[in-house]
Formats: sequence, structure tokens, C-alpha cells
Amino acid sequence: MDRIKIVGGNRLEGSIPISGAKNAALPLLIASLLTADRLTLKNVPNLADVNLLARILRNHGVDLAVDGKRPGPKQHIGETFHLTARDIVDTTAPYELVSRMRASFWVLGPLLARMHKTRVSLPGGCAIGTRPVDLHLDGLKALGANIEIENGYVVATAPGGLVGNRVVFPKVSVGATHNVLLASALAKGETIIENAAREPEIGDVAECLVKMGVEIEGIGSSTLKIQGRDRLEGAVHAVLPDRIETGTFAMAVAATGGDVTLTDTRPDLLQNALDILAKTGTEISRTHNGLRVVRNSASMNPVSVETQPFPGFPTDLQAQFMALMTRAAGTSVIRETIFENRFMHVQELARLGAEIHQHGDTATITGVEHLHGAQVMATDLRASVSLVIAGLMAEGETIINRVYHLDRGFEQLEEKLTRCGANIERLSGD
Ligand code: UD1
Repeated sequence: MDRIKIVGGNRLEGSIPISGAKNAALPLLIASLLTADRLTLKNVPNLADVNLLARILRNHGVDLAVDGKRPGPKQHIGETFHLTARDIVDTTAPYELVSRMRASFWVLGPLLARMHKTRVSLPGGCAIGTRPVDLHLDGLKALGANIEIENGYVVATAPGGLVGNRVVFPKVSVGATHNVLLASALAKGETIIENAAREPEIGDVAECLVKMGVEIEGIGSSTLKIQGRDRLEGAVHAVLPDRIETGTFAMAVAATGGDVTLTDTRPDLLQNALDILAKTGTEISRTHNGLRVVRNSASMNPVSVETQPFPGFPTDLQAQFMALMTRAAGTSVIRETIFENRFMHVQELARLGAEIHQHGDTATITGVEHLHGAQVMATDLRASVSLVIAGLMAEGETIINRVYHLDRGFEQLEEKLTRCGANIERLSGD
């Protein structure tokens, strides 16, 4: 298994291009199931999760070409995917594939909407809490689906097709919003989704559906009004920039001190996180196609945060921000309100010398003068990259084990950091 070795202490200087957003690319790829015509997606990041979803889609019969090549692990960044689901040859999404990535469960809505029946394994994914799917199922039931759970599979049918309805989510869920939004595109009549998640990746999918011929009102708000269609057309769409990757690199620069321009991204996608970062004493300014992050060696202010659905501080940046706060000049408090078990990085950060006290959903971090390199273990996607940030700050050598988590969501992480002066390398395991 690959490991990552970091020798900390280097200042980061230069520029880093930001990739397309993983969390938008996945549902956009899934949207290809809704039409027999070709969907072309540009700026698709080369990530393990994208490649796995490509396998799942091909299993359903989607013809997938990457700028003329077949998809494979050795692609360069920002590729164009051409997807054509002329015939859905298999409506089952098997356990072996779905259990490896939670977002693949989102094929449920589109397959049901188009084929009127589907069988999708209950999901797996990052071990960050129980992550149920009740909201997905209730939303689809409201559109007329019959749903049974049989041997670990969701078996969904809608003999006459899905029918638009009012879906009121009792809790904000990104995945359930994607699933119902995608399904409603082929449901008869109007669907109104209330308390929809407002994450920019949902807006990106909605924009793509509009290009495919669906009428959608309220994009970017918590009420989406969708007029379903009998059939959708093909479209060409570019995946929006990855706000989590943007925030992660901004925090890495704040952590090490440095001066880095993040290009091909949009600060408005993560304004709340950037405001929080600015409070630590990091200078952030807009550039024509991204932002510049500068921090001199002065001490860092402790800042407390609470994770919230968009437009609040994202749970996907919580671990990275905690890594940063381990070196602040004082005490900060981080509260995780989205997932109940998303503090696995606390123990690993402690191995590097961080002082963190966790109680329930709250972590209290007392900044220390120095972190010291050590062996640590990546536990989930965002936790892994928090260890990279901590390793960049730590004195001496840090080895991160189980880095396959990082490959799920960060494209060319070591290359991007190395180009800015970080001492980081991948040790390939056999
Ligand atoms: C998505 C993101 C993930 C991010 C999360 C929250 C993708 C691929 N993943 O995950 O990176 O951390 O949003 O911003 O985009 N819940 C229920 N019942 C359900 C569904 C969810 O109770 O049926 C709960 C979850 O357990 C969690 C909360 O709702 O506590 C939010 O989860 P959700 O927004 O659905 O997260 P994901 O879509 O899985």
C-alpha cells in the first residue's frame, strides 16, 4: 500500500491549479443515465472515485470515452468525458461496487426514473458516521416509487413511471437532494423540493439538467421547482471548481506560511471558510481566476468554528482547519454538527504532538509551539489531507499510511504541493 512521506517546515510559494469538483463530477456523471443522447462533461478530475463510478456506469450500459481514449488510471488532469446511455442493459448496482463509494447510491433515482425499476445495493463509503439513506427513499416514495429492502438491496419500482410531487426534507441532505432532483427530471409534471441542500454542486447539476431540457426554478436556493420531461437531450457541461480542494490548499498555505495563488477556482464557492481563514491572520485576495493566499511567519490567531450546511463552514474542511488550529496562539473550539463520527483525525493529530480534547461533537484545540513528525494513519478522505497539512507544519519526517483515501478525492496532491516547494513524496508499497 502506498504511503506519503513529508519533511515539514518548507514555506509554500507559487501557484496551484484547482481541479473540477469531485462532488459535482460524480452526480453529473450519473446524470448521463437520464438520456439516450450524449452527455459531454469537461474538467472532470482524475480521481479514484471518478474511475470507480465510471466502472459502475459502464456496468449499466453507459458507453464512456475520455477524449477518444478508454478511461484508465493514467489520465492527465481536467479531462473531457463523453457518456452515452443509449440502452440501459442492467438496472442492478451491485454491492461489490456500491459498497466502495457512497455516492454511487445516487444512481437509484435516475435508473428508477428512466427504467421504472432498479435494484441498488445499500451504500458504504467513508466511515464517518452511520449515514442512513431514509431521506433518499422517502423522497423517491413521494414521487410514487414502491421501495422494498431485500438482502441488502433497495428494490425500487414505479410501473407507470415517477410522478412529480412536493418533497419536504426534514433535514438537509446533499445526497438525497441529488437523488430526488435527478429522478424528478424524468417524472411526470412538477416536483417541488423543499429544504433542498444549497451546496454549489447541486446548483451545478441543476444547471446541467437545464441544458438537457429540464425547466428548473430556484437554483441555488432551498426550494427547487422542477418540470419533468418525457425524455432529455444531450448536453455539454463543465464541472465547477472544487471548493474543498481550494480551501484545503488555502489552509496548507496558512499552515506553512507562504504566498500561493490558487487558479481556476471561485472564492464565492467557499466565502464562509475564507472569512474564517482570514480571521486567523491569513491574507486572502481575489485574482482574475481564483485567489491569492499569503501568511507571514507571525503567530496565528485561534478561531472557533461550527460546521453547517452550505453556505456555512463545510464539514469537508473541518479536519483541515483543525490541523491548522493545532499551531494557533491559543485555544479554539470546533463543533461538528453534520456527521456524528468525524473526529478520527484527532488521535492521529495527537501523534504529531497536537493537544486536542474531544467531547461528543466538540473538539477543543490548544495550540502548541511545535508539531513533531511521526507515523500516522489516514482514516477517511478529508481526515487524510488534514494529516498532510499537519505533516507540512511538523518538524522532521511524517509518514502517512493508507493514502488510498487521498487518491479518492485529491488529484495530483503531491505534485501540486511539490511544485510550490513542499518536501512531500509518495512511497509506493508492494
Ligand atoms: C455529501 C458529500 C460529502 C459531504 C456531505 C455533507 C458528496 C459525494 N459527498 O455527502 O463530501 O461531507 O455531503 O456536506 O457530495 N442523512 C440522513 N438520512 C439520509 C441522508 C443523510 O440522516 O437519508 C444525514 C447524514 O447521516 C448526515 C447528514 O444527513 O448526518 C448530511 O448528509 P448528506 O448531506 O446526505 O451527505 P452525503 O450526501 O452523504
